[in-house]
This record gives sequence, structure tokens and C-alpha cells, in this order.
Amino acid sequence: QLVRLADYRPSDFLIDTVDLDVNLDPHATRVTARLKVRPNPEGRENAALALDGDELKLVSVAIDGAELEADAIEVSPERLSIANPPRGPFELTIVTKIDPTANTRLMGLYRSNASYTTQCEAEGFRRITYFLDRPDVLAVYTTRIEGPTDETPLLLSNGNLMETGPAGRGRSYAVWHDPHPKPSYLFALVAGDLAKVSDTFVTLSGRTVAVEVFVEHGKEDRAPYALDAIKRSMRWDEEVFGREYDLDVFMVVAVSHFNMGAMENKGLNVFNDKYVLASPETATDGDYANIEAIIAHEYFHNWTGNRITCRDWFQLCLKEGLTVFRDQEFTSDTRSRPVKRIQDVRALRAAQFAEDSGPLAHPVRPQAYAEINNFYTPTVYEKGAEVIRMLKVLIGPEAFKAGMDLYFDRHDGQACTIEQFIACFAEVSGRDLGQFMLWYHQAGTPEVTIRTAYDAAAKTFTVTAAQRVPATPGQPTKQPAVVPMVTGLVGPDGADMPLVIAGAPAGPVFALTEAETTLVFEQVPVRPAASLFRNFSAPVKLSTDLTDDDLLFLAKSDSDPFNRWQAGQTVALRNLVARVDAQRAGAPAPEEPRLAEAVARAFDPSETDHAFAAQVAALPSEGDVAREIGEDVDPDAIHAARAALKLDLARRLAGPLAAAFERLVDEGPYSPDAASASRRALKISALDYLAAGGAPDGVARAKALYDGATNMTDRIMALQVLSLSASDARDAALADFHDRYKSDPLLIDKWFLIQASAPLPDTLDRVRALMTTPAFDIRNPNRVRSLVGAFGSGNPTQFNRADGLGYAFVAEVARELNGTNPQVAARLLGAFKTWRALEPVRRGKAEAALRAVAAAPGLSPDVGDIVRRALG
Ligand code: ARG
Ligand code: ZN
Repeated sequence: QLVRLADYRPSDFLIDTVDLDVNLDPHATRVTARLKVRPNPEGRENAALALDGDELKLVSVAIDGAELEADAIEVSPERLSIANPPRGPFELTIVTKIDPTANTRLMGLYRSNASYTTQCEAEGFRRITYFLDRPDVLAVYTTRIEGPTDETPLLLSNGNLMETGPAGRGRSYAVWHDPHPKPSYLFALVAGDLAKVSDTFVTLSGRTVAVEVFVEHGKEDRAPYALDAIKRSMRWDEEVFGREYDLDVFMVVAVSHFNMGAMENKGLNVFNDKYVLASPETATDGDYANIEAIIAHEYFHNWTGNRITCRDWFQLCLKEGLTVFRDQEFTSDTRSRPVKRIQDVRALRAAQFAEDSGPLAHPVRPQAYAEINNFYTPTVYEKGAEVIRMLKVLIGPEAFKAGMDLYFDRHDGQACTIEQFIACFAEVSGRDLGQFMLWYHQAGTPEVTIRTAYDAAAKTFTVTAAQRVPATPGQPTKQPAVVPMVTGLVGPDGADMPLVIAGAPAGPVFALTEAETTLVFEQVPVRPAASLFRNFSAPVKLSTDLTDDDLLFLAKSDSDPFNRWQAGQTVALRNLVARVDAQRAGAPAPEEPRLAEAVARAFDPSETDHAFAAQVAALPSEGDVAREIGEDVDPDAIHAARAALKLDLARRLAGPLAAAFERLVDEGPYSPDAASASRRALKISALDYLAAGGAPDGVARAKALYDGATNMTDRIMALQVLSLSASDARDAALADFHDRYKSDPLLIDKWFLIQASAPLPDTLDRVRALMTTPAFDIRNPNRVRSLVGAFGSGNPTQFNRADGLGYAFVAEVARELNGTNPQVAARLLGAFKTWRALEPVRRGKAEAALRAVAAAPGLSPDVGDIVRRALG
């Protein structure tokens, strides 16, 4: 059944303090919760006290020390109701018994590899004890943990450590106190035998904070990068947002069984180990970048999420969109700002635009949900971040900063709504942000169509922008949004012309607020090339009447690096679509030789920004082409078109590519810093072209790079290049990789992923075979994502096999996981998010696979919700 935003009402009761006593046992952990409860003045009078539970077993319940008789309560695994609780403050004591070993859902308290971990967001705390498990109930927590000293010498929870010592009978205990009131989803507990790598950080105001990273014994040498990233995040949040850390200790724990990336529990972040552990021999440049960004993201939640939290789960983007924005800014300040923007936009289009155009589309702030876990989406996170970025563009950086300061000031310690957040910016800027709110309400990617006209006699340049938001499930009609269009007019000399409208300086930010907006630029001496939506100033789908000549000129001359990149991509995308059309019509492939000139610049020795060059050199993805085509999509035709363009470029640029590879291949000792990583990225890009179509010479180079690799980036990238086509070199390298790294699950994940994403006809058989090997463990979400997730969401031709076996396979694994880990099962089905855009044969097979899941007995809410919405 649906939970609706419109039905929100304040809790009838509040909980001021929580005293938890967790007595750990693999199968019978006993949890005693002593809660100080009082009626909420904003709640209903004389209401029953109804606490949430999930698979709980009640041992006893008492009010002010007096145990309640069975007839005073109503209890089930999902609920504990007390019809007539005291009408003033009282103490409620609840004892529950749980089995952490049997908890395969990895929500609540679970045990894996002999350690205990919790995951409570969104609704996992109710799997530990009966509670008002909603984010607007904020309490001060004191947690006593007790466990066997040999198995769990380490006992961690939120806040500051108050006491620790022996508890008798070979057991120890620790008491933690978190002075900051928090919702239950931020509770955490970790117990196990882990190694600690630590450092200290002195805050702006001079307090010394212990910074600690916990990893498995023997992996201490893989922790320093994450540790350093924490300290850099702390400094950055002080400098840029004026936010200081607020406890004596900040802890990060790496765990190997984890449903998501990481979790921002107060003072005790829990991380998927793949986003903590890094060494040159085991982590790629991409891993280092991810670790840095996710450490920053979770740390930044301390203010945006924890100190100020969400009133209800509809407001998820209040913390997630804002915190993604903050981590993007951190990375932009730490690495290359334009390259970060390009990478983020690539990812946004791949994941969010795809979601927004299909049956799972939903607003940044949804109005209703059946299962909140299915709304941790690219729309809430990444589009949510774009909305914040647009707000900053529209009101300007000073007003944005003032609005953030006001928000922190006014709402510290509260559970808030998007309206309260936006009100801060309206207030400081004096702007009416009513129309802006549509970005939170309306699903779908706005389509902006641009027509331009130059009048040589009048010296005017007219830009007409029409916007339209497509219909999405439940939202047949839409209103025009306020779309910030940052614009430049680039003259033939490559310089930006002054922007003059009605005789006065204008722009560069133009807010499109109507279905159609016309801008007449004056005093324009020659026809310019319009550089529109600079730095991707709004998350829209853009189509323009710019010619390929205009775009190729912008690709060379635009002062905006994002649009320099985008212009080249647009030309490539147009060519790819034309190639697909031609192929399906049996016509010869249309060529665009000038594209080679643009790509050649990336490999020119004079190009010193290697990271940017690597982005320029990378063609639009198969997904980009599929979305551009929009309907009746044939993934094989797209793959063939893209492969042909790549080969065409490789042939035209054979000399420069080989020279670039030779120039870039020799480097000193490995360092994960951005400049060194960029050099490797460009080198791999050259190699990827050189090996296009399985060219023997390129394959030989890839094999040599693989064999001689001194770091994981080179090794994995070479393996990736080799894996795009079948060859003996590929088989040998895959076997070698397995031999070298078979004892390291995170590296076997890379090996899984490369094989699962290979665009080869035997991939599905291989994936099925790999699932039966001991290295695979269906209980471990990282294994499942690397093999089955990568096949479903990262292999367009093989998942979309015309015989439908790819769909059937992913559906089958999702059904298998439905009972043990519904969250991971539901995620796998995300692979179907664009199924309606497929050509009829595949569409039919995809639908049949979804219908088979829908008809299966015992569907979890997670899986049931996804298939129902996917089928519409
Ligand atoms: N809050 C976490 C983060 O973004 C993610 C939690 C995901 N939870 C879930 N139920 N899927 O950092
Ligand atoms: Zn987050």
C-alpha cells in the first residue's frame, strides 16, 4: 500500500532519550531499550502508542517499571501497540530478541564474517527494537554493547566513548553516548575484531578530533588514503561551508557485506569496503576518486542530513541532493572542475535521464511510495544535486551562501522539509521561488528546443527557446519550469561577444520561465556561434539548429570547457544516430571526417590537460545513442554503429594515436593524484582506439601493458581493452588475473565485472558459469552487483539479446534474491528501466520476463513495487 506525502502528520508521541543495551549473540541477541516517551503537543490527544517493528520477537514490555499484561498490548513482528499509555511523560522498557546471523537482508543488525554491523536507513532500526521509526522523532542515544571479548574486542556506536571494560564470563562491554539528538535511521553499532588506523584533526576552533578507520586485520596498508580523505573533507567543509565537526571522534568502518555504498550514521560511518580500501596494487584511479568522493559525501552528511535531517522520507532529496552537490563541489575544488562536471553530466544522463524517460520516472520529491528503499535513485540524488546547482546559478553565489548559512542557523537540530530549505533562499535573495519548486514536483527531463536567427542588417541575433516537459507516470500534463540558460555568443575569433538586450548589458544567466522565450541580442556585428547551457546550467535535453560547423568551431574555441566538450559530443552523437538509421535502411555509413580533427586535438602533444582530453576523446555511450533515438531502439545496431565510428577514427588517426600512446606510456612510480591519473586515462583512451575492432597491433600493446603493469589501473584498463573482443590474449590475461588475485574478493569483483560487461555472444554463458564458482557468493551484494548487476545494467547488447535470455537471466536472479535480500533484488531489476523504448521483439521479451517476476509468489515489497511500476 502507498504512503503519501499528503497524509503526513506529526507523531502522536515523542521520544527524548533512548538507552539501548545490546547483548550480542550470533543467534539470540537481546536488546533492551529504555525510552523516555511523552505525548507530542502537536499530535492527537489520547492516541494509542503504535511502534514499528520488522521481524521482531518481543520478550517483555514495561511502563515505568511495571510489566504490561498481554491484554494491554497488541503485538506482532511488525507492530507493538499500547492502546492506553500514560498521558504524560513515562519510561517505556522493551526487550526484544533478534537473530543477526539469519539476517540476510542486511538491514537492521546483522552478522557477517564474525562481525556485527547495522544498517538502519531508511527503516532498519525497527528490526532491532520496536520504535517510532520515522525521521522526525529525534532522541539522545546512550548505547551499551556487550559481547564475547575474543570475537568482538571492538565495540562501537555513535557519539563519544564513555566507558569500556570486562563484563565477566569472557565478555566485554562499552558504553557510548551521542549528545546530538538524532532520528533512529542514524543509529549504528559495529562489533568485531578489526584493525584501527588513526590520526587526529584539529578543527577551526581548535578542538582535537580523533579520526579512525577500521578495516580487516592485514588490510591496514589500504586505509591511509581514506583516512587522509576524511581530514581533507573536514577542512573543506570548514573553509567552504563554515561547518565544523562536533564530536570527539569520527569513525569509518569498512565492511564486506553491505547493500549500498556507505552510510552516514552519526560519528560512525559504515562503508562498503570497496569505497575504503585502496593501494596502488589493488585500486584503480577510479577507485581512488570514488573513495575520496564517498568519504566526503558521508562526512558532509554530518551537517546536511544529521544536524539537519528530513521530516519524512519524501524529503530524502533535502539531504541527498544537497550532499551530492556538496561532494561534487569538493571534488571540483580538489581535482579538475570542468572534468568533474563532464563526468557528472555523463553519469546523470546515463542513469537519471534514462530513469526519467521510462516507467520508473518520479519527481525529485516523490508524492507517494510503496517501498522507500526504491527511491534512493539517481533522480533523488543526482537530479536533486542539479536542482541545488540551478538554484545557485539563478540567485548567484553570494545569495546561495547566505541562504545556506541561514538554513544551518535556523534549522540546526530540526527535521525539515524542502519548503523550509527553499524559504531560506527566497528570503535572502528576495526572489519568488514558487516556480522553481516545480523542479521538485514534476518528473521528466525538460526538452529545450532552440532556434536561432541572425539579421545582418539589424545586427541582431535572436535565440528562441521552447521548453516542454514530457508526460511521466501519474503526471500527464506539466507546466514550464524555470530553466537557467547560461549563454555565450562566440565570435569568429573565438572570443565571447558582449551580451546586449534592449540596449543594456544582459546575462549570461537567462531564466526561461515560459513555454517559449525569445532573446534578441543586439549590436552583434557578425553571426556568432551560440554557446548554450554553459557548464550544463540545467538538466535538460537540448536540441538546437546549430550546424555541425558551428559545433566543430565551438569544440575548438568555446571559452566554456564543458561546452567545448559537449559540442564535440553532439557532432559525434548526430553521426552515430545517422549511422544507425543508415544501417537499418541498408544504406552506406555516413562519415564525418571533421570529427577526426576534433578527436586528434585530444592526442596532440600540445594538449596538456590530459583529463579533459580523455573526455573529448571518449565517444558518446551506447546508452547516449539509445536515448537520443528514443524509441524502437535496437541495441545491436547502436553497438555496431559505435564500433564502426571508433574504427573509422582509429584508422584516420593511427599515427597520432600510436605516438600519443608511446609518449604517455612511460611514467614514474605510481601516484594516484589527479594529474597522474589523467595521464593514464588519456593513455588508455589511445590504447582503446588502437585496439578497436581487435586490431592485432593494438591488442599486442594492450597485452604488453597488462603484462608489464606495476599498478592496478594499468592492469585493469589493459584487461578491459583486451576483453572487448575475443582473442587468445584476452583468455590468457583473464586467467592470469584470476591467478594473481583470487584471494582478494574486491579484485575478483573487477574480474567478474569485465567479463559480465563484454559485448560478446558467450557472455551470458560465462556469467552463468561464474555464478557456480566458489568465488561467487549470492549473499554478498558486491559479488552480485559485479556479475549480475554489471551484466544487466552495463552490457547493452548482451542483456538485450534478441532471444530474451538476458532478460530472463536477470529476472531469475532477482527472483532468487527476492527472499534473502529484497533490496539487492529490486536494484537488479533497475536494468529494465528503459525496456519500453526497445524495438518490438525485445520489448515483448522484456515484458514477458517482468510479467514472470510479477506473477511469482511471495514477492517482497521491494521487488513487487519495481515490477508493478515497470509494467505500468
Ligand atoms: N544515506 C546513504 C547515503 O547516501 C545511503 C543509504 C541508502 N539506503 C537505502 N535504504 N538504500 O550516503
Ligand atoms: Zn547520501
